[in-house]
Amino acid sequence: MSESTEMRAPASRVLPHELPASLRDAGLTNWIREPLDDAVDRRRRIIMPPAAAVMGTPASAYQGALLAESRHPDTVFMMGDNPALPTMPPRPTLKDFFDLRFSKIARTHLLQSARVARENGLDEKVIMACLLHDIAIAGLLSANHGYWGAQMVTPYVDEEVAWSIEKHEALRYFPDESVGYTYPEAYISYFGPDYNPPEYIRREAEAARRHRWYMTSRLVTINDIYSFDPSVVVDYGEFEDVVGRNFRQPEEGLGFDGSPVAHMWRTMIWPNNFL
Ligand SMILES: [Fe+2]
Ligand SMILES: [Fe+2]
Repeated sequence: MSESTEMRAPASRVLPHELPASLRDAGLTNWIREPLDDAVDRRRRIIMPPAAAVMGTPASAYQGALLAESRHPDTVFMMGDNPALPTMPPRPTLKDFFDLRFSKIARTHLLQSARVARENGLDEKVIMACLLHDIAIAGLLSANHGYWGAQMVTPYVDEEVAWSIEKHEALRYFPDESVGYTYPEAYISYFGPDYNPPEYIRREAEAARRHRWYMTSRLVTINDIYSFDPSVVVDYGEFEDVVGRNFRQPEEGLGFDGSPVAHMWRTMIWPNNFL
């Protein structure tokens, strides 16, 4: 390599073209990252929002416009580390996802729920399930979050923990006065007083109620209700011992252990990958 080549600055040609007004109007500017001033790689990166995030919204109509943007010089789709997110270590642990990926509200909710379960003197399986019960909302997808969350942790936790995470989604809708569980006030405000859960959720809850692990999942729902106070800070370190005993952290890191759910963890590491 000649000296002049070595000295040459990294490609820096970023065309000053404006975003098409249609994209601006749709609020899609957030999905196009201009390179930072000191970036070595000065290409613009386009984030194509996942179908599940935009389906049924006006934003879904702009897929073509984003594709067209990618044809500009020095413009590529986002693949790999998004500079807007903290970089994950090469072998990520559960704690890394809590610290570097989960939203503050969701993280607080999970930690508070686990703390209340511990203060109530509940079994470690329940504490673990409380700590993990909404991780799909925290980092992946909200719809069907109990099912996504259960699958994500199945290789690493006791079967009963995964089961109770899955079933909490359906059980949340149905009171059980024998243990003091009533329909959540929050759901009245979230969904309106006239909301009726669909038939499949009703069936799931009924089946769960007859299951031998019913009370484990019910306890997740009970500790879910009263534990959400965004002003209370709970440190993840409080649960290092419980996690150590109840979560089989893969040596290769979550996302890289070749498990059937590794792709879900990788999706949270690189949530903006085009493919
Ligand atoms: Fe939940
Ligand atoms: Fe929750």
